Amino acid sequence: MNRFENYQLLEHNTFGIEAKARLFVEFATEDELVEFLTNGHEGNSLVIGGGSNLLFVGDFDGTIFHSAIRSIEKVAEDENEVLLRVGSGVNWDELVEYTVEQDLYGLENLSLIPGEAGASAVQNVGAYGVEAGDLIEKVETIVLGNASKRIFSKEECHFAYRYSVFKGEEKGKNVVTYVTYRLKKSAPLKLSYGNLKDKVLELGGETLANVRRAVCDIRRAKLPDPADMGSAGSFFMNPVVSAQKADELRNEYPAMPCYPLPCGDVKLSAGWLIEQCGWKETPHKHVGVYKHQALVVVNLGGAKGCDVIAFANEVVDSVKKRFGVELNMEVNVIG
Ligand code: EPU
Repeated sequence: MNRFENYQLLEHNTFGIEAKARLFVEFATEDELVEFLTNGHEGNSLVIGGGSNLLFVGDFDGTIFHSAIRSIEKVAEDENEVLLRVGSGVNWDELVEYTVEQDLYGLENLSLIPGEAGASAVQNVGAYGVEAGDLIEKVETIVLGNASKRIFSKEECHFAYRYSVFKGEEKGKNVVTYVTYRLKKSAPLKLSYGNLKDKVLELGGETLANVRRAVCDIRRAKLPDPADMGSAGSFFMNPVVSAQKADELRNEYPAMPCYPLPCGDVKLSAGWLIEQCGWKETPHKHVGVYKHQALVVVNLGGAKGCDVIAFANEVVDSVKKRFGVELNMEVNVIG
């Protein structure tokens, strides 16, 4: 177990914001975590993964937990499927790469998403028509309050768009230690999102490896590499409005992307709404939106968490004023 006091978090948030934690604890096994918790832990706590969905607006006066459980094991297998039990500290894209190399189908559309396996269950990360929750079989946690072990079945996780029970009634109560994914040994591939199928065909055909390459190419073209420019990926969630509201907007803006949902409501594209408000062209000093994807708020250098929040509020106000649509943040604001 590693523990550090007054710990700098710059390397633990992809936004590249300076902030400190009173105590930072990194555990490599469930036993280490349980021992720490049973020895009398108190005060605020926060569990982080790769820090790719966090915005620190101040120092964190409490304990930050980070998993260094990095095992990947096949726990069951039949002729069609494999169950893969993955430590919460495994780098997400390394996991996706491993599954593609092993000819296991399911995670390929989620290539190159920053972060770690544990957060895939909390955030229900999604891209190109697939969400992590579609593949998750169960989630193992240690309960912060009493250091007991819990296992959440897929149903108990209540997965929805960028949502799980760990963002709802279980928020702040668990440390995810393992996530088990149910993966397939053969296709179908999911290629219906946007121009994904065309990209895959350009690469030479519908194979698992080509889907991963195509997704990586699309993401590299549209999204900033956290190593070059600080961001937290999509800063806002795509808003969901009533069919009537979507029709009204569509009458006025026929080019507006709309994605009807099974419940009858319509999901809009936050990136399109933000771009229409002119934010891609607006010059800014420390914070702006990414030139290829307006949904991504970027740190142009030296931004503080409060600068990002002030900028985000301006973006929200502009979209509300022009379209009458409320944007909600996807990032978790801490401090
Ligand atoms: N669009 C614009 N301008 C922009 C951005 C997008 O007009 O600046 C339009 C696009 O042309 C397209 C539509 O909006 O018609 C959708 O764009 P895109 O395919 O890039 O997807 P998104 O809805 O903006 C979501 C996820 C991304 C994920 C992509 C692909 C959310 C909040 N974001 O973005 O996730 O990669 O779909 O599946 O749902 C993330 O969570 O960090 C993330 C990057």
